[in-house]
Amino acid sequence: MNHRPLGRSGLSIAPLVFGGNVFGWTADEAMSHRLLDAFVDGGFNAVDTADVYSAWVPGHTGGESESVIGRWLKARGRRDDVLVLTKVAMWPAQPGLSATNIVSAVEGSLKRLQTDHIDLYQAHQDDAETPMDETLEAFDRLIKAGKARAIGASNFTPGRLGQALKVSADKGLARYETIQPKFNLYDRGEVEGALDAVTTREEIGVIPYYGLAAGFLTGKYRTPADLEGKARGRTVARDYLNPKGLKILAALDEAAKAVSASQAQVALAWIMAHPSVTAPIASATSVEQLTELMGAARLVLPAEVIAKLNAAETA
Ligand SMILES: NC(=O)c1ccc[n+]([C@@H]2O[C@H](COP(=O)([O-])OP(=O)(O)OC[C@H]3O[C@@H](n4cnc5c(N)ncnc54)[C@H](OP(=O)(O)O)[C@@H]3O)[C@@H](O)[C@H]2O)c1
Repeated sequence: MNHRPLGRSGLSIAPLVFGGNVFGWTADEAMSHRLLDAFVDGGFNAVDTADVYSAWVPGHTGGESESVIGRWLKARGRRDDVLVLTKVAMWPAQPGLSATNIVSAVEGSLKRLQTDHIDLYQAHQDDAETPMDETLEAFDRLIKAGKARAIGASNFTPGRLGQALKVSADKGLARYETIQPKFNLYDRGEVEGALDAVTTREEIGVIPYYGLAAGFLTGKYRTPADLEGKARGRTVARDYLNPKGLKILAALDEAAKAVSASQAQVALAWIMAHPSVTAPIASATSVEQLTELMGAARLVLPAEVIAKLNAAETA
């Protein structure tokens, strides 16, 4: 499988990243380990998580997803077969991007992940309260100490990403090699335009999240009744099940038929075809779902199919 460079970090990843927010939430430990096995056996190598996952689940505190990955790494002894991507800043127990928080948060993540290094350590969100040079100096020290191989940002505006890159260049510090924005057929605004310009000019890896719009782009939610009792029901109802979403689904149905693939595969292949994108992040809660998603990496969408999908929301 063709690997793609993660910015200028020297690391490279297969064209789909597994989203680890399901581990310990909608996938129990045994299923999570089966999913990780199937993903790596399928030739993929990058797993995304965060210290805060899955603090939103009643009875959870955060740290659960990293711990599930850590026990899998230990049980399988496959540390060198995977790139572990985790994040700091959004966990109420370890908030923000101050040097003090980064220095202590990384130790917690390393312990839960049962490893001595994180391949890509990401700022989960911007922190306007902390000077950027303080954050980047702290990350730079982690790289020099071998605790992180590269750093990335998530949910930064193009302007703030550009500023951070300038601080790194001016001070000779490690720079954010990746950005993790929200991007899918429904949510295009964060990436298309100003962010694309920065990431292309600066050779930043783009690993967007919500590739399936929380499952909406699989086509399985079409009416409010489809959402009842579903873990993602509230998100899908709030953000996607609306006239714009239904127009996009109609175009997705047509595209899926035209290329003899599933809606989920077309949704991910459309992201993979976006010129600035390195690899989308998506999650799955069963091996069947994951097998379908991995198939997207073999799907090349014809230009006319991409054009129709691009025009879907205004159709
Ligand atoms: N940086 C950030 O701020 C941020 C924010 C959100 C997410 N993320 C990252 O991005 C990853 C992906 O986001 P996400 O997991 O929330 O959303 P997603 O990838 O858009 O949606 C995945 C969900 O869709 C369903 N699904 C997947 N494949 C399917 C198939 N073939 N058929 C039917 N249903 C299928 C599964 O949920 P069900 O089986 O439960 O329906 C799965 O958990 C996260 O795991 C996380 O790593 C980052």
